[in-house]
Amino acid sequence: MKIHVVATDASAYNASVLLLFAPHIAWSEQLSLHPLNEVLQGALAEVFSSDFAGKTGETALLYTRGTLPTTRILLVGLGQRQGLTADALRRAAAVAVQKARTMSLTHVAALLPDVGLSVSDTAEAIVEGALLGLYRYQGLKSTPDTITAIEQFDVLTKEAEAASDGVRIGQAIADGTNLARELANTPPNICTPDYLASQAEKMAKANDLTVSILKRKQIEALKMGALLAVAQGSANPPRFIILEHRPEGTENQAPIVLVGKGVTFDTGGYSLKTGEGMLGMKMDMSGGAAVIGAMHVISRLEWPIAVVGLIPAADNMVDERAYQPTDVITASNGKTIEIISTDAEGRLLLADALVYAKRYTPVAVIDIATLTGAVLTALGNVAAGVFSTDAALTHDLQQAGEATYERVWELPMHPEFQKLIESDSADLKNSSTAKMAGASVGAIFLKNFIDYPAWAHIDMAGKMTSEGDLPYAPKGASGYGVRLLAEFVRRRIKSE
Ligand code: BES
Ligand code: ZN
Ligand code: ZN
Repeated sequence: MKIHVVATDASAYNASVLLLFAPHIAWSEQLSLHPLNEVLQGALAEVFSSDFAGKTGETALLYTRGTLPTTRILLVGLGQRQGLTADALRRAAAVAVQKARTMSLTHVAALLPDVGLSVSDTAEAIVEGALLGLYRYQGLKSTPDTITAIEQFDVLTKEAEAASDGVRIGQAIADGTNLARELANTPPNICTPDYLASQAEKMAKANDLTVSILKRKQIEALKMGALLAVAQGSANPPRFIILEHRPEGTENQAPIVLVGKGVTFDTGGYSLKTGEGMLGMKMDMSGGAAVIGAMHVISRLEWPIAVVGLIPAADNMVDERAYQPTDVITASNGKTIEIISTDAEGRLLLADALVYAKRYTPVAVIDIATLTGAVLTALGNVAAGVFSTDAALTHDLQQAGEATYERVWELPMHPEFQKLIESDSADLKNSSTAKMAGASVGAIFLKNFIDYPAWAHIDMAGKMTSEGDLPYAPKGASGYGVRLLAEFVRRRIKSE
């Protein structure tokens, strides 16, 4: 879909459909639509008096009958005017383009509404919502579903320059999210650690990011015994993906390091999952995908800030060579770990990546992972859990979560939880035998591998998939985390 900003009057423009966004207020107050209503000989006022009130998710279609070059208008509701957020715009834009697509309309023009946000933010939200809402995983069907693609999306505004900025940002953010969705939706016989690495490499090359892919030999040289233990039962070798964004002027800046869990399939290993429990586990690399997506956004937009992305990638399989419960392994910081459950594998490969992060003397490290089913029990599928050693970092992630509607909710790392992972045969064990506070136990395990002041762990297991409840989040891999992490980084630039 080509996106253009056009500095024109909506009444002079020709497209298959013109989108008009309207908040839930009386017609008399919809001042920005009054001039167009004149041109349309009162048609808008008529719709408002009967079929349409601007409520969330509401749409109304009307025909212009020769009064405009464009033959159709689609009115789209934004909901309450008071406190209207970017998310209301994202949702409405997604609803609108989905409707246009079902009607096989290939050229959409959207009049940029004035709802109290800046022109750039408004354009960003509309483009982001539209592109996120149009995403579909096409899969490998021999006869692909027939859907008519929208070829052109025009943003109509008098302030073309500001709108263009917003379009560029919205497009990068949506592309990064859709990339993460695509990687997570890809079946695990295709999306192996090597494939994930090759896709990260492809993204990096397109964006002028520095990329290094460490293979088994190099991972062995780094003594990443925890990552190697997880990987040892699979025919697919592990990869350690390193993405570095250090634009000019930031060479000496302490970077933000983003770490994402890249388990390309989680059978549970010998602590085998049930058949049903395994079904979503091709998406167990969603944290890694979120980091790849966020690095896309940051580098595409050339943000002036140093950010490093690390993705330890492996399959967790059953095999004669696979690691087994009660094995004792050694992580790259020398700590020994007794394996209680081979299904608590995410924390193992993250441990080695968190140790690796120290070499950057990071200003902050954020890991994101589909780590525990327990976080889903605690928080449901509404927010991800966040655990942190730094209150300002937690606060910033919460703010970024509100702005993007990729929310995080703080959960505790009480020191008492460390007792639950004390081992008789090693420095610590990878899971507790007591069935309590599972998400916190995962976090406290990771804390043993941190050697820098500011660290946050995001457990996104509950946010891995979306059920299609939000118009811009179609069913399947959610792409959660890309927008959250990108927004977090963006705010760090602004606040410097
Ligand atoms: N990948 C799973 C967590 C998960 C579950 C993600 C459901 C998304 C949806 C993780 O590796 C896992 O299996 N965790 C165990 C930890 C336990 C053995 C301590 C779990 O949650 O049961
Ligand atoms: Zn597992
Ligand atoms: Zn897992």
